[in-house]
Amino acid sequence: MFVEWVIFSNESRDVLIKAVKLTKKYDDFVAVDGIDFEIYSGECVGFLGPNGAGKTTTVRMMYCFLPPTSGDLIIAGLSVHDRCREIKQVVGVAPQEDNLDLDFSVVKNLVVYARYFDISKEEALKRANEQLDFFQLQEKRDMPIEALSTGMKRRLIFARALLHKPKVLLLDEPTTGLDPQARHLVWDAVRQLKKLHVTIILTTHYMDEAEILCDRIIIVDHGKIIEDGPPKELIKKHIGENVLELDYDSTLLPMLKQTFSDARIEVIGERMQVFTSKPYSVFDGFLHEHKIQNVTLRKANLEDVFLKLTGRALRTND
Ligand SMILES: Nc1ncnc2c1ncn2[C@@H]1O[C@H](COP(=O)(O)OP(=O)(O)OP(=O)(O)O)[C@@H](O)[C@H]1O
Ligand SMILES: [Mg+2]
Repeated sequence: MFVEWVIFSNESRDVLIKAVKLTKKYDDFVAVDGIDFEIYSGECVGFLGPNGAGKTTTVRMMYCFLPPTSGDLIIAGLSVHDRCREIKQVVGVAPQEDNLDLDFSVVKNLVVYARYFDISKEEALKRANEQLDFFQLQEKRDMPIEALSTGMKRRLIFARALLHKPKVLLLDEPTTGLDPQARHLVWDAVRQLKKLHVTIILTTHYMDEAEILCDRIIIVDHGKIIEDGPPKELIKKHIGENVLELDYDSTLLPMLKQTFSDARIEVIGERMQVFTSKPYSVFDGFLHEHKIQNVTLRKANLEDVFLKLTGRALRTND
């Protein structure tokens, strides 16, 4: 599907997107609270945050769907305050909401959209067919939109975002509602686009997806950026290497604290979690000594970071 794409230059790490004190208010409610960030050319950056954190509002400002209340947002050297026409030419968008045109068939949704970018009819049809093939929607090409399942609509929205071969791609929850096969298809598309140095902003609630696809993660909460860095570094910084999960036991808890004195320990309902970088031999010894069963020992992941920073569980030792 990515035949004849321009491979965008990735030689200089240019700043392609820059937010300066970016703020969005809905009446008195501050949805995006004076954030600053820079995104480099060719990066794939994941915006993570709980529901209502301000991700979609930020993404919407990036494609000029919403004007900022104050501050600035520069896309490829163009400010959203006065260069929206040009910005729309370089940005591809798969919005969170379904905004497909119900009056048109599947293929016509693509072809008509392509016309906004002055792509000839013939070329638009060619590109639409490439996308329908890749996203496995060719069978549905002449169907009305209401005949598509939720996952098919999401795939079509992604396909539509690629028609004008954008330099910047905004994907707001592209895999919500997709089955595992379709999710892998989307991941494959993102990987191919990364190879072409397309700059990608991705929002998702799937931490595994963000960890696999994104070079860098920006975590937002209450309209503010609370962390920014490569997934592996964030995991190392906030969690450590390993997580031990075992059944809650009030007599075991003090022993855990003693053995894993450097660790953060959380009690979550009926289970305890120990976040530590201690070697496996220490875990083995402890589990053996106390004859502990029903244990999970796993690598720390981005979800651990997310829950720690945005808060979910009861903390016992901090
Ligand atoms: N048009 C609007 N009018 C008033 N408030 C709004 C409007 N759009 C969004 N908000 C509020 O702004 C906040 C941020 O919303 P936003 O959609 O950006 O969150 P999000 O991080 O994308 O959440 P989700 O993960 O649920 O998609 C929320 O509190 C939301 O209720
Ligand atoms: Mg959203």
